[in-house]
Amino acid sequence: MDHFQYKHGIYHAEDMPLDTLATLVETPFYCYSAATLRHHAQVFMRGIAGLNHRVPPKICFAVKANPNPHVLRLLKEQGLGADVVSEGEIRLALAAGIPAQDIVFSGVGKKRQEMRFALQCGVFQFNVESAQELHVLHEEAQGLGVLAPIALRVNPNVDAVTHEKITTGRKDSKFGIDIEQASEIYALAHSMPYIKVQGISVHIGSQLTQLEPFARAFARVRDFVLEMRAQAMPIDVVDLGGGLGIPYHPEHAALPEPDGYGAMICEAMQGLEAHYVFEPGRLIAGNAGVLVASVIYTKEAHDAQTDVTHRFMIIDAGMNDLMRPAMYGAHHEIVPVSEAHHHATHVSQHVVGPVCESSDVFLRHHPLPLLHEDDLVVIRSAGAYGASMSSTYNARLQIPEVLVDGTRMTIIRPRETYEEMLARY
Ligand code: LLP
Repeated sequence: MDHFQYKHGIYHAEDMPLDTLATLVETPFYCYSAATLRHHAQVFMRGIAGLNHRVPPKICFAVKANPNPHVLRLLKEQGLGADVVSEGEIRLALAAGIPAQDIVFSGVGKKRQEMRFALQCGVFQFNVESAQELHVLHEEAQGLGVLAPIALRVNPNVDAVTHEKITTGRKDSKFGIDIEQASEIYALAHSMPYIKVQGISVHIGSQLTQLEPFARAFARVRDFVLEMRAQAMPIDVVDLGGGLGIPYHPEHAALPEPDGYGAMICEAMQGLEAHYVFEPGRLIAGNAGVLVASVIYTKEAHDAQTDVTHRFMIIDAGMNDLMRPAMYGAHHEIVPVSEAHHHATHVSQHVVGPVCESSDVFLRHHPLPLLHEDDLVVIRSAGAYGASMSSTYNARLQIPEVLVDGTRMTIIRPRETYEEMLARY
């Protein structure tokens, strides 16, 4: 459920008409809904409420999905912490007021400097992904004279059945430690005086649309935890990562919901008592954000050989602003801001951006109304991995982000200026 819909003929974010917002901010811009972010955080919490926890679970929002500190602060107010993968993300989480004790440091290539920074801050846990990383972390902790709290991120060798580029739990993936080698590395970690073994973590991929791969991975983790605990290895924290998918297509409404996800975990864990941690990203932010763009031009080309007319709608948002379609072939629904357009006759067309790349395409052969210059469109489900993956390719300016809360709007990242762009060099 999200708070983007037509009201009085105009697409709204909560109580804010997007045509009004577009005159205030100018397109293209990202627009997030505070009520949707809050709602998703609450739904996730309720979903996992049935777990046998020793202390309340920590829900650490995957900052990579949306690192805007205003978004992080809002989520912090809902009780969420942060899952981070760089010193930059730690700094953004701290700037949002998230205490270091609610930060989990993930990532396959943490550098010494980043480890030192995280140790000095006192993050809750390092999710360690290799024996080498463990050695380096131990050295750095020793240098500072502090204990580094760790979990090993295990790779359970389960195919997440998602897009090739976002699956992480198979043996051919760079992520995690092969679960078959993990007991050896736990023993090594346990022998290190400046390492405090406290947990285990697993994350098998992103945009999972079935629960079964999770269930298999989590059951493996549970068995392994019991095995380790039997050998007196102090594994208290069980971090089950993120990865639950969201509906990008309107017809995807039947995707697993957090309730079903929670029930699946209870079953897979079979009462395993632990301090549970979760790292959802997309589920919280994905459908809480849209990208608003304007039509710049339209044009047609007729292919006489196939007798197909190609109609192009060229909009002012490009692949640099939202990379997912170009990078993953991801589908994002596009709707006109005017409801009258929404009800007009739809014809097949390609929606493309202005970037000089053939892959700068949002939709191909998709039925949409015929729009004109300056008409507004909304690209849905862009709140996660949208702004965070954007670039300034083609010397395009970083676009603004706006947070709507009821009738109120706040520009939480202003549009970059050409002066700022030039000052970068
Ligand atoms: N934890 C770890 C260790 C991760 O690597 C990720 C995502 C998450 C949590 C959050 O996963 P989520 O709940 O958002 O699925 N750029 C891609 C997604 C990459 C995901 C990377 N890791 C996309 O736009 O689809």
